[in-house]
Amino acid sequence: MNKEEIIIATATFVKKELKGAEGGHDWWHIERVWNNAKLISQSENVNIFIVELAALLHDIADAKFNDGDENAGPEKAKKFLETLLVEKEIITHVENIIRNISFKGGNFTQHFQSSELNVVQDADRLDALGAIGIARAFNYGGFKNREMYNPSEPPDLQMDKEAYKKSSAPTLNHFYEKLLLLKDRMNTATGRQLAEERHRFMEIFLEQFYEEWEGKK
Ligand code: ADP
Ligand code: NI
Repeated sequence: MNKEEIIIATATFVKKELKGAEGGHDWWHIERVWNNAKLISQSENVNIFIVELAALLHDIADAKFNDGDENAGPEKAKKFLETLLVEKEIITHVENIIRNISFKGGNFTQHFQSSELNVVQDADRLDALGAIGIARAFNYGGFKNREMYNPSEPPDLQMDKEAYKKSSAPTLNHFYEKLLLLKDRMNTATGRQLAEERHRFMEIFLEQFYEEWEGKK
């Protein structure tokens, strides 16, 4: 198989595996991240084959939906890429990207660095922002039967990785605990620029949300 055929086979595999997934982490999320990653790559010096494979496989078995197992995703990606006889070095790089892409509350050390990880991480973060980011947050909150908002449960910015994963706080808290922090954590210039527009949109949304909540509008 040439590289193009490997990408197509990977997309087909991911689409099939994510059938019935939660609406914020389904094939459409992957397709958006894949497109964002290709866009950002245009202004970065990266191995585009690795970027595309990692974007396609980054949520193939998210720990959130696999009893917290953080090896499930990288292992599944590795096994699949081995069946396509992809070079070992490339498989290892893709595994490392999947292991290190996640936010997990932001209060943890990332152990692997590469420009390909930077691109895929920005692409994934962009999909957590803006109109799509808002839609995904409420979809996930609904999936978990969370409250939308509770004025007496303030956001917690000190959570470590375990507390972040266990949290069952209202969906609006997630904006302060993650979504609004992302624009200052972007890795690439393109990512940062797109994040800023999406960030502003979320701020406007929140302002309107509180006004309606209090019956002012
Ligand atoms: P990461 O995979 O980077 O660790 P998360 O797992 O925190 O990111 O979340 C991925 C997406 O899932 C978020 O951008 C958001 O849309 C949704 N999500 C995750 N946790 C929550 C939450 N507590 N409330 C609302 N949405 C959430
Ligand atoms: Ni993702």
